[in-house]
Amino acid sequence: MENGKYSDKVALVTGAANGIGAAIARRLADGGAQVVVADFVAERGEAVAEDIGGVFVPCDVRIPSDSRMAAQTAVARFGGLDIAVLNAGVVTGGDGFDADRYRRVVATNLDGVVYGIEAVLPALRARGGGSIVAMASLAGLMPVPFDPVYGATKAAVVNYVRSYAPLVAGEGIRLNALCPGFAETPIIDGFRGVIHDLGMPILEVSDVVDAFEVVLHSTGIGECWQLQVGVPAEPVAFGAPRSAGG
Ligand SMILES: NC(=O)c1ccc[n+]([C@@H]2O[C@H](COP(=O)([O-])OP(=O)(O)OC[C@H]3O[C@@H](n4cnc5c(N)ncnc54)[C@H](O)[C@@H]3O)[C@@H](O)[C@H]2O)c1
Repeated sequence: MENGKYSDKVALVTGAANGIGAAIARRLADGGAQVVVADFVAERGEAVAEDIGGVFVPCDVRIPSDSRMAAQTAVARFGGLDIAVLNAGVVTGGDGFDADRYRRVVATNLDGVVYGIEAVLPALRARGGGSIVAMASLAGLMPVPFDPVYGATKAAVVNYVRSYAPLVAGEGIRLNALCPGFAETPIIDGFRGVIHDLGMPILEVSDVVDAFEVVLHSTGIGECWQLQVGVPAEPVAFGAPRSAGG
């Protein structure tokens, strides 16, 4: 039910046809935001958009012009852009190393965020500021032997966000990342045995969306918020490396 929290906002969510992205899109729309649902799966994306009164745009985040088109759609249809959620992501899957699968994961999880930031900045600047939340993962903060490529891409997103955020903060643009643990979506289907062996509890998608809203309303810049079952989301306290002089 609409509560007006986002009634003057326009949001773009990538990977919004399913899982966490769809739930974030829905929460933003429930709060009154006008939402662009961006995904490369058209049928499900269109259904989500129709359901929430938003607009669907076909978007493969691996392609820079697709991300630009998604941002331009927000401006053309809703007059601007305030919130960008760069959420699309995939795991590697399969056995052993495969160069094509490797490229697909890097292109989706890392290029998708890098291209996404560049695509949305002009529209956010035109508004005099806004917020970008990149969906990283707890897998970017710890070793991930069951999918090292996935872990590497999420670690890259974490450092990209920390490095890039100060460059746009002066323009009123807040760039942060959310790093959830395992959450109940189809992306974990290949890992359920591992998750069971690790004894890690699985987040509800609604917990991730709650944490997303905390990040959205925080004042932080370049923060990477960790989220695990039963623990409130909080920014990771990164240590500084030892300086060259020891
Ligand atoms: N579910 C988890 O356990 C978990 C934990 C931490 C982080 N994450 C991250 O959350 C994000 C959302 O994942 P989810 O769990 O909702 O998975 P999901 O598979 O349910 O949803 C992913 C969405 O991204 C879309 N997508 C994939 N590749 C795309 C591309 N190239 N262009 C556009 N859209 C594309 C898919 O069509 C799908 O709609 C991902 O970045 C994932 O890495 C998930």
